[in-house]
Amino acid sequence: MSEFNEQNFEGLLKVFNGTVEAIAALYEKRDPYTAGHQRRVAQLACAIARKMGLPEEQIYGIHIIGVVHDIGKIAVPGDILSKPGRLSPEEFNIVKTHPQVAYEVLRNLEFPWPVAETILQHHERLDGSGYPNGISGEAIILEARILCVADVIESMASHRPYRPALGKEKALNEILKNKGILYDPAVTDACLRLSSNGGFNLNCE
Ligand SMILES: [Fe+2]
Ligand SMILES: [Fe+2]
Repeated sequence: MSEFNEQNFEGLLKVFNGTVEAIAALYEKRDPYTAGHQRRVAQLACAIARKMGLPEEQIYGIHIIGVVHDIGKIAVPGDILSKPGRLSPEEFNIVKTHPQVAYEVLRNLEFPWPVAETILQHHERLDGSGYPNGISGEAIILEARILCVADVIESMASHRPYRPALGKEKALNEILKNKGILYDPAVTDACLRLSSNGGFNLNCE
């Protein structure tokens, strides 16, 4: 193996990115209904983070996190993931394990970004009504507050096995209506600014 220098650091970074994308692609082979969801959430989360003026290193991390944020659903049976109707409370409880599953797998990897923590917290809500731990406010790390908004927007704007796409307008109304209640106000504002500037293209409608 050749010595590490700046040139092969670049090469390693490429392999690292490719590995993360491969994990996402592998997961999406199993869950084609949400294929592309992780990538689109990653793109939107990064665009929001950029609007908020976060440093590029942090945005890079948000992209990595976004691309794999739902891989914990690998532990959810396929018939639940692709169920065309509403989930029963028992089935929804199984889906709700996915942040914890991913956290267990990723927690020992020493990323320079809070990958495992952000994924663990991406379904938490500002008022404490989310899962898995019902934490609230700034106990939810910024990356997770950003990912949460991007995830809600992308999910509502896309088709799901259990419903057709609700559209971008409805998705934006949802975050506006719950700004400061479920969603971080600064993140919501950045997302709305992004949308009004036309920098908001999910390619999923
Ligand atoms: Fe999720
Ligand atoms: Fe998601």
